[in-house]
Amino acid sequence: MLFAAGSLGAGSKVCVSCHAAIARSYAATPMALSSGATGTGLFRERFTAASVSLTGGGSLDVALKNGHVEYAFREGDLKGRRSLDYFLGAGLVGRSYATAIEGFLFQAPVSYYSAPQKWALSPGYERNPQINLIREVEPACLKCHATGVQTIAGTTNGYAAEPFQEGGIGCEGCHGAGDEHVRIMKGGKASGARSIVNPAKLPGGQRDSVCAQCHLPGAVEIARAGKHAGYKPGGLLSDSVVVFVLAGVDREATVNGHAEQLSRSACARQSNGKLWCGSCHDAHRTVPVQERPAHYRKKCLQCHEEKSCKAAVGGDCTACHMPKQQAATVAHAALTQHSIAKKTVAQASLPANLELTPFEGFAGSDRDLGLAYATIAIRDNNRAWGLRALELLTKVPEDDTKAAAKLAQLYDRMGRDKQACAIYERVHSLDPTPAVIVNLGACRAAEGKIEESIALWKSALKLSPAMEAGRLNLAVAQFRGGDGEAAKSTLREGLKFNPLSTRILQMLRDIQ
Ligand code: HEC
Ligand code: HEC
Ligand code: HEC
Ligand code: HEC
Ligand code: HEC
Ligand code: HEC
Ligand code: HEC
Repeated sequence: MLFAAGSLGAGSKVCVSCHAAIARSYAATPMALSSGATGTGLFRERFTAASVSLTGGGSLDVALKNGHVEYAFREGDLKGRRSLDYFLGAGLVGRSYATAIEGFLFQAPVSYYSAPQKWALSPGYERNPQINLIREVEPACLKCHATGVQTIAGTTNGYAAEPFQEGGIGCEGCHGAGDEHVRIMKGGKASGARSIVNPAKLPGGQRDSVCAQCHLPGAVEIARAGKHAGYKPGGLLSDSVVVFVLAGVDREATVNGHAEQLSRSACARQSNGKLWCGSCHDAHRTVPVQERPAHYRKKCLQCHEEKSCKAAVGGDCTACHMPKQQAATVAHAALTQHSIAKKTVAQASLPANLELTPFEGFAGSDRDLGLAYATIAIRDNNRAWGLRALELLTKVPEDDTKAAAKLAQLYDRMGRDKQACAIYERVHSLDPTPAVIVNLGACRAAEGKIEESIALWKSALKLSPAMEAGRLNLAVAQFRGGDGEAAKSTLREGLKFNPLSTRILQMLRDIQ
């Protein structure tokens, strides 16, 4: 198995011996506690409101059994159990969970909501409250919530037996790999290069990138073309990715993350780069609730005078200028308004005529913009965005496999199979992702080359065994080829991952 390298250098434990006070204080922050094996850490879920009834008649029941958290699911007469192996989220608002099956991680349909102390459907189920047992945990999710993520190359959700080396954000998530620093501090010779990153000492763009790598989700993030090492603290986030945000008539309603909101504040715009996350937050410490008004007031008064605002004398500046909204779900959005306005801005619903634009500081090429439109078009099934993407991506060079694969997917959706197949063919030899392999299999099948299709689908299922399109195709081909037993075992294997799959169950019945 091939593991992609995690970002861990020395590991956080090593830092404790010399930076004990920081390590102790940091260990109690939500960032330090943002993921781990379920049952570890300080937070404890309650199990008094642990039954979820779905509108379609199904149910989910969570329980603690021998120190292990698991849930029972039921839909009609189908039922089963899953364990909640890992948690994501410290639990300020709530927590989501992941289940490991044969090295692949899936998002649980149930999440825990801290304020009401109850279990309910996870974010993303608002529009379709049907149990989905095979929602993949993509590496991006863990990269923002854990440290030293160990993905298995070529898969979308395959991880090492330990999916991450450290739960939560480790020291090196903000300071970069620390092995060289530790070596030097223990008396080793200095190599001349800066041994450790101190975010506060970086130039503005590099400094802001440290927090933005996780706090600037934007509407969609696209990895730049070509080979680059990926973001590392000390560098510029914009060297490895382009973050796109939504722009439209009513821009305010679309601004979600903390970094995006802050960038719109007069404080950030008019302080010549002085204002940043670290002006108000100490990354190593959570300010106790009762101390917050005084804590933030002091920060404001570093740049403002009390007399600048009639209400300022003795008042809690953030109560009026950075109000907090209530969190209904654990959707990713700022609760505290970071656009620091004179008046509170109402959150409206999203207008329809939205366009994507690169966040300031992130120049995006046509290719990047095309990929961004394609991503949201495919996700939201939006034809207008799909057409924009098509226009932009047709000009992309042939060896750009990420862009080519997305272009093929768009052609596929529009029924333009010939164009799609030509691209799958080309991309397959360079960057065989599970989706590309499955689609190429379908192309070969359409040409009558069933043996080749079968081989392709089998290899795709090794990389993504929960992918049902490939599995159903394979079973049909095996059955038509006269091997009913092989077809049955292919389908039964799929039930391991998704015992609620109506399509697999239907096909099994049809075969029998
Ligand atoms: C053997 C002791 C030792 C260990 C282990 C150690 N440090 Fe340090 N560190 C120091 C000392 C001493 C300084 C202050 C001297 C300096 O700034 O050069 C320092 C300074 C720093 C600074 C400030 C640098 C600056 O330019 O302002 C950071 C950040 C830091 N350490 C992070 C870490 C992290 C993260 C780890 C774990 C990966 C770690 N240290 C492990 C001894 C250590
Ligand atoms: C590797 C990803 C990552 C990086 C880098 C990162 N954060 Fe976070 N941050 C998170 C996650 C995830 C949470 C949510 C933690 C939770 O509640 O589970 C969070 C939460 C926070 C919170 C809320 C905690 C609280 O006490 O309410 C603050 C404030 C914060 N981050 C500030 C920063 C600042 C400042 C920086 C840069 C110096 C930074 N973060 C860098 C991922 C990151
Ligand atoms: C771009 C980085 C990023 C990605 C990707 C990401 N998160 Fe988060 N997550 C955050 C940050 C930052 C917060 C803190 C609140 C905020 O800023 O929205 C957070 C908050 C949360 C919370 C609430 C934590 C609490 O203490 O209440 C949960 C639960 C959560 N994320 C789960 C997930 C899951 C599950 C995934 C993947 C499917 C995911 N996140 C993907 C950065 C990220
Ligand atoms: C979320 C980002 C983040 C994480 C995680 C983080 N730090 Fe820091 N650290 C910072 C920032 C930002 C500064 C600069 C603070 C300032 O001077 O304003 C800093 C400064 C430091 C310094 C030098 C200045 C000082 O305060 O003494 C040391 C040493 C340090 N960190 C060690 C650690 C260690 C050890 C850990 C892990 C236990 C850690 N940090 C985790 C963001 C982080
Ligand atoms: C690093 C310096 C800095 C910090 C810290 C800072 N501000 Fe500002 N702020 C500015 C500058 C510069 C302006 C623009 C000039 C002005 O209006 O004073 C500004 C403008 C404002 C405005 C006017 C907004 C508008 O739309 O015209 C408000 C309100 C405000 N700040 C509130 C706050 C509050 C509340 C805090 C603390 C939570 C704060 N600021 C922290 C620098 C800062
Ligand atoms: C002018 C001061 C100020 C600056 C600058 C600032 N914040 Fe905040 N932030 C706050 C206040 C005030 C809160 C609310 C604290 C509380 O929970 O009472 C907050 C809360 C948060 C939270 C907790 C979730 C929420 O929305 O309540 C996160 C995460 C966060 N900030 C991230 C950031 C990041 C990332 C940056 C830099 C892009 C940043 N903040 C810059 C003042 C600031
Ligand atoms: C009770 C609510 C409230 C509190 C508390 C409050 N403000 Fe304000 N502040 C306002 C309002 C409302 C305005 C807009 C007044 C206007 O437009 O004439 C304002 C305006 C401002 C401005 C812009 C002034 C200008 O002429 O553009 C700044 C800067 C500011 N406040 C800073 C602060 C600081 C710093 C604190 C805390 C020390 C604070 N405010 C506390 C309500 C408040």
